[in-house]
Amino acid sequence: MSDQKRILITGAAGFLGSHLCDRFIAEGFKVVGMDNFLTGSVNNISHLFPNKDFEFYHHDITKFVHVPGPLDYVLHFASPASPIDYLKMPIQTMKVGSVGTLNCLGLALAKNARILVASTSEIYGDPTVHPQVEEYWGNVNSVGPRGVYDEAKRFLEALTMAYHNFHGLETRIIRIFNTYGPRMRLDDGRALPTFMSQALRGEDISVYGDGSQTRSFCYVDDLVEGIYRLLMSDYSMPVNIGNPSEITIKEFAEEIARLIDTDCKIIYQPLPTDDPQQRKPDITKARELLGWEPKIDRAEGLQRTLAYFKSLPEFSNK
Ligand SMILES: NC(=O)c1ccc[n+]([C@@H]2O[C@H](COP(=O)([O-])OP(=O)(O)OC[C@H]3O[C@@H](n4cnc5c(N)ncnc54)[C@H](O)[C@@H]3O)[C@@H](O)[C@H]2O)c1
Repeated sequence: MSDQKRILITGAAGFLGSHLCDRFIAEGFKVVGMDNFLTGSVNNISHLFPNKDFEFYHHDITKFVHVPGPLDYVLHFASPASPIDYLKMPIQTMKVGSVGTLNCLGLALAKNARILVASTSEIYGDPTVHPQVEEYWGNVNSVGPRGVYDEAKRFLEALTMAYHNFHGLETRIIRIFNTYGPRMRLDDGRALPTFMSQALRGEDISVYGDGSQTRSFCYVDDLVEGIYRLLMSDYSMPVNIGNPSEITIKEFAEEIARLIDTDCKIIYQPLPTDDPQQRKPDITKARELLGWEPKIDRAEGLQRTLAYFKSLPEFSNK
C-alpha cells in the first residue's frame, strides 16, 4: 500500500485551482482535479495531463459528486469569483456555493477526508471595521447585485461549520483577500488584468469612481503557501489570508502605467453598486497559528504577472 496522499481539488482549471494542483503535485500528492470549465480554462492544467499523479474529471459539482477510491483531502475552490462572472451567472454562483458545497462536504464525510473551503473577504461586505478581523460579522447587502456571491460564501461557511459541529468532519475555512498572478483571465473584469491589458494595448486605464477605494493585493504563491499551511493545521475557524499592504485603486493604476511605461491617461467610470470602500486583512491569526505572512511584494508580483500577460498570444505576437 502506498502512503502517497490523494487530494481532490474542485475548480482545478481556474486561476487559484490550477496553482494548487501544481503545488500539491510538487509536494508528492496524487491530485484529482475537477472542473466544468464555467470560468476556467484547460490551458491552465494541460501541462499536468501527462503527469501520472494527475487525473481530471470534467464535472459540474452542483450535480452529485463521486470520486472512486480513497481521498485524504478536499480543496473546494469551484465558483465564479470575479464580479463580471458572478453578475453574469448569479444562479450558478449561488448553486455552486450551496449545492456544490453540500456535495463536496458529503463526499469528504463519506471518504473521511479533511476539507478546506474557499471563502472570501467579500463576506465582510462593505466593512465598517478596518482592517478586517475574522471576528467581524460583516456588512453585506443580501439583495444587492453582489449579494449572490457574498451570501453564497456566507452559506458555504455556515454549512461547513454545521458539518464540523454535527458530523465532526475535519474542516478548514480560508477567507481569501484579492489575489493576483499568472493565469488570471485578461477579461475577468478585476482591476489588475483590466489595467494591465488596457496599458499593454495602449488604451486609457479605466478606474471606477474616483479611485480612492482601497484594496490589498496578495501574490498567488503567497496565497498557495497560506492554503497549504492552513490545510495542514488543526484550526477549524475561519482564517484570513491576504497581503495587508493597502493601496488606493488610483495609485494601483498609476503603478501599472509606470511599470508598462505607457503615457496613457487614467479615466474614471461610475462606481458599481455596493463596491466596498476599503479592504485590508488583519492577518494576526495567520501569523500566529500558521507562521504565515506574505513574502512577495507588489513590485515583484506585478513584474511576474506582467511577464505572463506579455507571453499570451494577444501580446506576444506584437
Ligand atoms: N482570486 C481571488 O482573488 C479570490 C478571492 C477570494 C476568494 N476566491 C475564491 O477562490 C476560488 C477560486 O477563484 P479563482 O479566482 O481561481 O476563480 P476562477 O474563476 O479562475 O476559478 C474557478 C473555477 O471553478 C470552476 N467552476 C465554477 N463552477 C463550477 C461547477 N459548478 N462545477 C465545477 N467547476 C466549477 C470554473 O470553471 C473555474 O475553473 C473561488 O471559490 C473564489 O470564490 C478567489
